[in-house]
Amino acid sequence: MNSVNYGKGCSVQLHSSNKPAIELVQEKVAEMELQHREDAFFLADLGDIAKKYEKWTELLPRVEPFYAVKCNQDHAVLKLLAQLGTGFDCASKDEIARVLKLGVSPSRIVFANPCKQKSFIRYAAKSDVDLMTFDNEAELYKIKVAFPTARLVLRILPPANFKVQCELGNKFGCHPHEARSLLAKAQELDLNVVGISFHVGSGVAEAEAFSAAVKTAAGVFDTGAKMGFNFDLLDIGGGFPGHADAPITFEEIATVLNESLNKYFPPKRNVRIIAEPGRFFVASAFSLCVNVIAKRTVCIGSPEDDGEEKDVKDKGAFMYYVNDGVYGSFNCLLYDHAEAPVNPMEFRCSVWGPTCDGLDQILKDIKLPELSVGDYLNFPDMGAYTVCAGSTFNGMPRPDCFYHCSETIWNRLYPDRPKGQEASSPITKSLPIMKAGHQLEKVDIDLLPASPIFVLDEDDGFFN
Ligand SMILES: Cc1ncc(COP(=O)(O)O)c(C=O)c1O
Repeated sequence: MNSVNYGKGCSVQLHSSNKPAIELVQEKVAEMELQHREDAFFLADLGDIAKKYEKWTELLPRVEPFYAVKCNQDHAVLKLLAQLGTGFDCASKDEIARVLKLGVSPSRIVFANPCKQKSFIRYAAKSDVDLMTFDNEAELYKIKVAFPTARLVLRILPPANFKVQCELGNKFGCHPHEARSLLAKAQELDLNVVGISFHVGSGVAEAEAFSAAVKTAAGVFDTGAKMGFNFDLLDIGGGFPGHADAPITFEEIATVLNESLNKYFPPKRNVRIIAEPGRFFVASAFSLCVNVIAKRTVCIGSPEDDGEEKDVKDKGAFMYYVNDGVYGSFNCLLYDHAEAPVNPMEFRCSVWGPTCDGLDQILKDIKLPELSVGDYLNFPDMGAYTVCAGSTFNGMPRPDCFYHCSETIWNRLYPDRPKGQEASSPITKSLPIMKAGHQLEKVDIDLLPASPIFVLDEDDGFFN
């Protein structure tokens, strides 16, 4: 394997395109072992992100993706997407600065936070990031003072009767009935409203959420036209699924969406259509490996107190303590409403993060084979809303991230890669392939030169 320098201290391991993901995990674990390290780490597949981009352009050719930086602001992710040509949805001064630093033109940024700090609006003005959303009157007054020539996008509330993982309509978006009065206020203030946006909610489970929202947006376009506006931008927000196990596929959404876009915004209408996908690009690209740093066998209560049943029910037969948790990358269990899997395996267990807080529980009741201290657990689909909101509470470090990409994809992405960037990988050992099946698999420990790895596979539905 070769590795390529990708800037900011990040190097990308290139591997043959048919190498199974689990083999890459094994190799990394072996490398950690050789270095006497037991840290948690992410493995990020940049090729997976490139494939998502290809999929997007193939299935939603009329919609320009503006990646939602909040979802995962990893440097390599942003750099790759910038080079692929996406735009960016930024919510703060810091996110805008991060994207501009990569050499992205300000015209490829939408400041898609409808409630912005004044100084952030001034920063956007100074940086020529002039496309921004609003959904209330107070925002218009702030923009009038800080950036009167900004191009504004009115964020509306889409129909809410659809299943989503994270609701956003409880916080943002004006009711379509309010649109007329807000547009009138913008007119009164001589502000430039150029279009309409919506966000159906993150992790949407029904494609019709998009078609219903497009129809509502078309109605507000008509309201605007009657008032003398000439909108030419529709921003359909995020909400697209990011991993194979999601309740709905990207293909299903694209079919429904293309139909409604062609009905309400046919190409001849000359409306530019953008979107703000977050999890779509990154969820499946990152897997997280955590190390079992401690283990407790749950005490069986004395015959008198009848404690056995209750303890095992609450904590499982084994309690495993791993070195990333709810205060770190598993914050998604709280903030992103992610769910833990249930598997028909050997022992009822619970899995806990490393901090001293009882809240720091990753898996409450899961069937696992018996693990030992030093084993690794692998969680796939950990790219979205994980590392971005993690803290270092209790002095627990955030996991390092190691990047890889299939050489075929990399050569397609960077055909003119200068010679001499390659460096040999320290991994030389060949490892047996471990099975990542539909259930958690206990691997044959004797075969392995490194600690065994247990994979929580996609089909376990860890983050549905
Ligand atoms: C304004 C806005 N745009 C885009 C996104 C990204 O959404 P998703 O990751 O579901 O695509 C979010 C997520 O919260 C958001 O708030």
